[in-house]
Amino acid sequence: MLENMRRETERLIIRPFTLDDVPALYEIISDPEVMRYLPDDVTSPDELKELFEWILCCYEKNTPSKLIKLTEAIVWKETGGIIGWCGLGPLDFNPDEIEIFFGLAKEYWNRGIAAEAASEMVRYGFDEIGLYRIVAVANPENIGSVKVIEKLGMKYKGIVGKLPEKHKSYEGHLYYSVTEEGLKWKNKVI
Ligand SMILES: CC(C)(COP(=O)(O)OP(=O)(O)OC[C@H]1O[C@@H](n2cnc3c(N)ncnc32)[C@H](O)[C@@H]1OP(=O)(O)O)[C@@H](O)C(=O)NCCC(=O)NCCS
Repeated sequence: MLENMRRETERLIIRPFTLDDVPALYEIISDPEVMRYLPDDVTSPDELKELFEWILCCYEKNTPSKLIKLTEAIVWKETGGIIGWCGLGPLDFNPDEIEIFFGLAKEYWNRGIAAEAASEMVRYGFDEIGLYRIVAVANPENIGSVKVIEKLGMKYKGIVGKLPEKHKSYEGHLYYSVTEEGLKWKNKVI
């Protein structure tokens, strides 16, 4: 069921990636400004292709009771081109929680697009996957990301700390969460 996830918003189509999307996504993530606050660094198209093979494999394995990683393409309806990604998956440092993540090509920033995509992803998480709670973490310096999370109506829970060495890069991040009952906007456009 999760393999065929496809949603539409006013300006966007959110759909699974295919291997044909590798060059378009590579162009987006080659921009250091896009990657500035992200934990992973993809250094070549071949490395991205490998990552895609894993993402595609996850589409087959994801189930509502076990989400490995659901990473979807954000397509700009007007042109049909890929402009970013968004998804849901276990939080690195606490895999019992499902986090939302998103990113866009820089030329599409500050037009409310990430909020449009992420709100649809949150709806999908609650309505179709049946999640109880969705969380988000953001570097406090990543103001655009913090704003999107707040627009989603997520509640600030505190600052991440006391993590084991392998997750140290998340220390100091802001931690947010929301349950379906906590959503005020679910049947509206935000
Ligand atoms: C984070 C990101 C997805 C936000 O996307 P976006 O489409 O620009 O987000 P939105 O337009 O919905 O909202 C961003 C808000 O932050 C505001 N903002 C962004 N940078 C800002 C800054 N430096 N100072 C003040 N406000 C800022 C925008 O004006 C906008 O405010 P508004 O809602 O009042 O219009 C985008 O910046 C991005 O792709 N960054 C790189 C990847 C990343 O860091 N992802 C997040 C980690 S999962």
